[in-house]
Amino acid sequence: MTTPRRVLVTGSAGRIGRAAVAELAARGHSVVGFDIRPTPGLPADRSVVATLADDAALRRAMTGADRVIHLAATPDDARYPRGTPPDDGDNFLSDLVPNNVVGPYRVMEAARTLGVRRVVLASTGQVIDGHLEANNVPVTADSPYRPRYLYACTKVFLEALGQVYGKEHGIEVLAVRLGWCPRDVGQVAEIAADPQCQDVFLSPGDAGRFFAAAVGAPTLPPFAVVYATSRHTHALQYDLSDARRLLGWEPQDRWPEGVSV
Ligand SMILES: NC(=O)c1ccc[n+]([C@@H]2O[C@H](COP(=O)([O-])OP(=O)(O)OC[C@H]3O[C@@H](n4cnc5c(N)ncnc54)[C@H](O)[C@@H]3O)[C@@H](O)[C@H]2O)c1
Repeated sequence: MTTPRRVLVTGSAGRIGRAAVAELAARGHSVVGFDIRPTPGLPADRSVVATLADDAALRRAMTGADRVIHLAATPDDARYPRGTPPDDGDNFLSDLVPNNVVGPYRVMEAARTLGVRRVVLASTGQVIDGHLEANNVPVTADSPYRPRYLYACTKVFLEALGQVYGKEHGIEVLAVRLGWCPRDVGQVAEIAADPQCQDVFLSPGDAGRFFAAAVGAPTLPPFAVVYATSRHTHALQYDLSDARRLLGWEPQDRWPEGVSV
């Protein structure tokens, strides 16, 4: 039986956040959402509407949590805050640095000072994307970084940050390199058109079950990197054995099972 935990989920109103919140709540955990918009499926008193830049709001929301799932970020295809034309293709200075570099630092500092036991960080397969391009698969957790572009660089930083906090501050930090959980019908069409994308597809259901397993695992090492995708259709791209070994997690879906946006 799973021990009920108090879990703070940042980015809880997003594609993956909604799936994580639903699965955690179904398993009896006490979930607090933290997002710039209300989190579907959570009552107002559990759905904190605030930005990562608001340290006081973040600390209030995290107080009492023994697990944090940090998902809030600027994804590679979205801009937050949306505004004037980008500095470069990834809006590095205006979006990615404040949200994906400073944001995780604020989360880890809050976790450290509040005594949170475990933090799960949402990284991406894009940090090793060059191996997929070279068909050097399946990629493992210790394959050297081969980031796609600047969004992926921020996730390399995220993993390094997690490693430091795990090693120096006794927090269990799990960085998960997520596969592709599509956010809109355009992304679904892109996956449908490309066999390799189908092999890194991550269904919302498998994502939710992954985060529930990450919350429920009794102990974890100070720092670990794992991959999470649904089952492959053509060829295995990411090595899932560490997620299986550490968390007992096994994907259930295979493209296009469970796809929803
Ligand atoms: N979906 C994928 O295929 C995929 C793949 C790899 C990694 N990831 C990572 O997983 C995480 C979740 O991705 P997603 O697909 O659910 O993205 P999403 O855009 O659907 O959700 C992100 C959520 O974070 C919130 N958010 C953004 N900036 C915020 C801020 N400053 N303060 C508070 N909330 C903020 C947004 O409002 C949104 O609800 C991200 O870190 C992303 O980089 C996603």
